[in-house]
Amino acid sequence: MKLLSLFLLLAIFNEAYCIHQYYTSIFSFGDSYADTGNFVIIGSQILSVFPINQPPYGETFFGRPTGRSSDGRLVIDFIAETLGLPFVPPSLAQDKNFSQGANFAVFGATTLDLAFFMQKNITSVPPINTSLNVQLEWFEKLKPSLCNTTESQCKEYFRKSLFFVGEFGGNDYNYLRQAKRSLAEARSYVPQIINTISMAIERLIQEGAVHLVVPGTVPSGCLPSVLTVFQSSNEGDYDPRTGCLKAFNALASYHNSMLRNAVQKLRCKYPHATIINADYYAPYIKFATEPRRFGFSNGALRACCGGGGPYNYNMSAFCALPGSSACQDPSTYVNWDGIHLTEASHSYIANSWLKGPYASPPILSRTH
Ligand SMILES: *[C@@H]1O[C@H](CO)[C@@H](O)[C@H](O)[C@H]1NC(C)=O
Ligand SMILES: *[C@@H]1O[C@H](CO)[C@@H](O)[C@H](O)[C@H]1NC(C)=O
Ligand SMILES: *[C@@H]1O[C@H](CO)[C@@H](O)[C@H](O)[C@H]1NC(C)=O
Ligand SMILES: *[C@@H]1O[C@H](CO)[C@@H](O)[C@H](O)[C@H]1NC(C)=O
Ligand SMILES: *[C@@H]1O[C@H](CO)[C@@H](O)[C@H](O)[C@H]1NC(C)=O
Repeated sequence: MKLLSLFLLLAIFNEAYCIHQYYTSIFSFGDSYADTGNFVIIGSQILSVFPINQPPYGETFFGRPTGRSSDGRLVIDFIAETLGLPFVPPSLAQDKNFSQGANFAVFGATTLDLAFFMQKNITSVPPINTSLNVQLEWFEKLKPSLCNTTESQCKEYFRKSLFFVGEFGGNDYNYLRQAKRSLAEARSYVPQIINTISMAIERLIQEGAVHLVVPGTVPSGCLPSVLTVFQSSNEGDYDPRTGCLKAFNALASYHNSMLRNAVQKLRCKYPHATIINADYYAPYIKFATEPRRFGFSNGALRACCGGGGPYNYNMSAFCALPGSSACQDPSTYVNWDGIHLTEASHSYIANSWLKGPYASPPILSRTH
């Protein structure tokens, strides 16, 4: 009882006094779950119109499309707000001041380099270089504009930053599946993917990062896109609790457990660093199991915005393309466009990473 109230007191103290001064910047690496505009900057050189730069993207919060793959804010946006920092600007934006952070994440980014997919004849991957290693190169390039007098100045600066490494992996597995490769083959690349993420974390720690958040991947078997494309007539392929495709979730689960092991090893190797496991998987399963408990009266398996069908997903009528339409109230849906989540889901997940239980340790437990 005493312990509990002391804990509560500390928690209240943290919220009231400490959070706003604790982190001075956020640096983020990832894919569309974190991209705050990079893909639109790259893509507009190739295509003028693509879904995520069209309404209804951004309708709930920003009132216009911003390059975020949602109706509103992403997890990283809610976390930036809570930490008293501005929304993390996309690193490829011109004339931005990145002293409070930069977001290197790109829609569609893979963990493994483009060359890996090319060598394997996997042509479902877009032919642009945005992989994790490429994002790390962008970070190295930006570094002199952030802190360039001495190495110790940089270390001091990054010590007060919160780094996000991920989500990574989801796209690697998607592109393999789109190229008709088996789940078993996809599974065989998990160690290489985890190793690449692990090396990226090490490289950032060597640059001076001491606070890192490492999100795992979503249960892809619950995504309307996967449920539509890999629809099965065998009832046994579905988890009766959630309605999700079991084999896809098993792959995601395997990735996540390998990632947690890798993080544990890094904690032993770098005891001065706080490396946080962050979980998209468990909250998504919770949403799918008891959607109404979270206000998701339209459930987790039907997209808010799409072109119809049992999961409201149709690749040729993707959200924002002709033939698609958006639901009245996105906050009653877990899923936004068949692949990405609604702002309402992001808000819940962000809170669970800040305060627990879906991050270990919770981000705010380190702000004192
Ligand atoms: C960038 O922003 C920081 C903090 O907001 C400020 O101290 C700095 O002077 C700005 N730099 C430029 C070049 O505007
Ligand atoms: C990729 O495709 C080319 C031509 O279709 C073929 O020669 C090559 O063996 C393939 N490589 C692999 C790794 O499958
Ligand atoms: C991607 O990067 C590789 C290695 O740096 C390079 O060889 C290739 O030309 C790049 N591809 C594109 C499309 O920029
Ligand atoms: C780093 O050096 C560049 C050019 O020499 C300068 O424009 C920039 O303001 C410097 N940045 C910091 C943080 O000192
Ligand atoms: C998917 O959308 C396309 C384009 O609007 C439409 O022609 C097609 O009938 C749709 N397919 C299904 C299964 O609804």
